[in-house]
Amino acid sequence: MRKNIVAGNWKMNLDYQEGISLFSEIINMVRDERKGDQIAVICSPFIHINSLVQLSSGVVKIGAQNCHQNESGAYTGEISAKMISSTGAEYVIIGHSERRQYFAESNAVLAEKTNIALKHNLKPIFCIGETLDERENGSYFHVIEKQLEEGLFHLSPEQFAHVILAYEPVWAIGTGLTATPEQAQDIHAFIRNKVDVKYGFNIADDTSILYGGSCNPKNAEELFAQKDIDGGLIGGASLKSRDFVDIVKTFN
Ligand code: G3H
Repeated sequence: MRKNIVAGNWKMNLDYQEGISLFSEIINMVRDERKGDQIAVICSPFIHINSLVQLSSGVVKIGAQNCHQNESGAYTGEISAKMISSTGAEYVIIGHSERRQYFAESNAVLAEKTNIALKHNLKPIFCIGETLDERENGSYFHVIEKQLEEGLFHLSPEQFAHVILAYEPVWAIGTGLTATPEQAQDIHAFIRNKVDVKYGFNIADDTSILYGGSCNPKNAEELFAQKDIDGGLIGGASLKSRDFVDIVKTFN
């Protein structure tokens, strides 16, 4: 069954106390106001994860924003999938465009991160999307197809069934520029078709594909009404409890 998911990505924001305080507001509002069976997730910095899991009692799910591709070892400063999973967190963002761009994460490395996340029972929120150049020169379908093929399509159908996809046009992230609902739907349909060709109709139909990029309470309704858009990966608006919960409530 395809699930509607609204996942907040706090990125590198909020000190420990600020994170706990924002999360406490979010969880109370979600508890009181959510009517549907949509899933709300917060992907926080590592320092918050354990406390958020304890506070949430499952009402809001918790995820990390990255994990290392190896099991353990001499990787100073890194965090493993096993460590994340041991806190009770259930999700991990993999391949966010900021990781691809600033930390040179290739599709090959992201494939390894996906493997280890799945091994430790984390659901990857796997991000794909084109840059402004790629949109303008028309290569975006090819770019997205390559990200899927090299990052994910080595997985078995059983593994792939745990993956959530997030389409984030890089030109729409944090810029206030949103893809139009039609532009986003076009790409989401393309992605679902690629999954169908690789894994078959049932898996493709069950895969949640989120939209990310300047999503807010005003534009969420029209975006999420599209046939192949199953929720959002929310950056800036997830730092405001009212905005984030209003986006979650789009599915009420
Ligand atoms: O992970 C979230 C996305 O990068 C979107 O960020 O909502 O601030 O544009 P944004």
